[in-house]
Amino acid sequence: MMRILSVASECVPFIKTGGLADVAGALPLALAPLDIEMRTLLPGYPQVLAAIGDSGKTVLDVGNLFGGSARVIEAEAAGLKLYVFDAPHLFEREGGPYLDAQKRDWPDNPERFAGLSQIAAMIGAGKVENWRPDTLHLHDWQAALTPVYLQAEKSKNKPATVLTIHNIAFQGIIDAGLLGRLGLPESGFTKDGFEYYGKISALKAGIVFSDRVSTVSPTYATELLSAEFGMGLEGVLRERSTDFSGILNGIDLDAWSPPYKTARGKEKYKKHLLSETGLPSRDGPLFVVVSRLSDQKGLDTLLEALAAIFPHGGQIALLGSGDPDLERSWRAAGEVNPDISVRIGYDEDYAKRLITGGDAILVPSRFEPCGLTQLYGLRYGTIPVVAMTGGLADTIIPANPAGLARGVATGLQVYPNTTDAWARALERTCLLFKQKDEWRRLQKNAMQQPVGWDVSAAAYRSLYKSIGNPR
Ligand code: ADP
Ligand code: GLC
Repeated sequence: MMRILSVASECVPFIKTGGLADVAGALPLALAPLDIEMRTLLPGYPQVLAAIGDSGKTVLDVGNLFGGSARVIEAEAAGLKLYVFDAPHLFEREGGPYLDAQKRDWPDNPERFAGLSQIAAMIGAGKVENWRPDTLHLHDWQAALTPVYLQAEKSKNKPATVLTIHNIAFQGIIDAGLLGRLGLPESGFTKDGFEYYGKISALKAGIVFSDRVSTVSPTYATELLSAEFGMGLEGVLRERSTDFSGILNGIDLDAWSPPYKTARGKEKYKKHLLSETGLPSRDGPLFVVVSRLSDQKGLDTLLEALAAIFPHGGQIALLGSGDPDLERSWRAAGEVNPDISVRIGYDEDYAKRLITGGDAILVPSRFEPCGLTQLYGLRYGTIPVVAMTGGLADTIIPANPAGLARGVATGLQVYPNTTDAWARALERTCLLFKQKDEWRRLQKNAMQQPVGWDVSAAAYRSLYKSIGNPR
């Protein structure tokens, strides 16, 4: 039995802002049949504390940490074995995990997530009773200082460390003045360590000091080595290239299970959706989008290209929230065009209704480490139309002439990621939609794609096993 501690700043079903939460929640369940016990360390946000109620027990008293008392609670909830880093002064507050109600970073994010990383190192060093992990699996910058703290732990048999990068856009850049307060060693504050242009980079620390580094698709792993996608860390990643790989995310097949066996069953759900959104009935495809509204997601480009669908009876329903400018421009488009429905907000049930009733799902991302919504689309026969980048490139078989002729295509890929190319692809999708046999074939292929966790869980097992002697 291999023991892994997963360290994450969000996790379904407790708290989620994006795909990281889905991955953190699904991986332990996917690994269990492979004889891997994964426990998960999470910050004690109100949602996490509410989920465990008073079922937990204190397994580590940390004492004073950054101006308040901290402890680790062991508990079980939603089928997951949890360690909860309970520090009310750091986590018990209204707002999101990273941002306050005004969408500003919490000013004490460095302390909050350095704290999380310190606790991970303590558990790694055997400081909780009865359980000692062989490997720490660290997700994103919020957990990436862990190997630095682990070095300072006086313990034999230190665990191995794996860092998974879910998104290089978030690097955890911290003012150098906090070095002492965060308990980071001066000796690590160098170009070969976690110093980054005069600041501390948590993500760089993880890249430099973890035994293995992974990201969430093979294509993104390659892209990250280039200046275009590496966002300043491409050189550091290149140094680690022999220990760096891409493993695709899967989706939870129980949570995302279409209410129909074949895509013909969609019709009734599309009708419901049209009446729910107030969109008129037309003979073109209903496109859907479920997305954070951030620059990464390319929804500005999509909006510029959208006019291409209306002459063909196309319609669109978007659900998303985030950047105020993007919210405003989509909302404005929805107000003047009866074939555009826009809902600003976060709503998991509505997201599911969109993917169930929609004909095609659009993912125009400028970069996309993996992406989950195109995988939902495949599973529901909701044809993905995606930018050719990152995990989007790895999960869709494009409807190019060869893909169609051989009957293997599952979606459309758009390249280059420009307004013109999107307009052409949207128009093509509308025309394909009207070739009923061709479209059914696409849907059938899409629904047969393996989008669960099986293959990737085995790949993570190989990765954990590949670390014979941790450094
Ligand atoms: P990212 O993590 O970059 O946001 P992913 O595609 O990996 O992108 O994951 C996004 C996840 O968040 C998916 O599960 C998606 O359904 C969900 N999601 C995004 N926006 C919303 C929203 N407004 N309402 C409900 N779910 C959303
Ligand atoms: C990030 C990425 C997304 C990926 C998710 C889970 O948020 O933006 O592409 O699917 O993490 O790994």
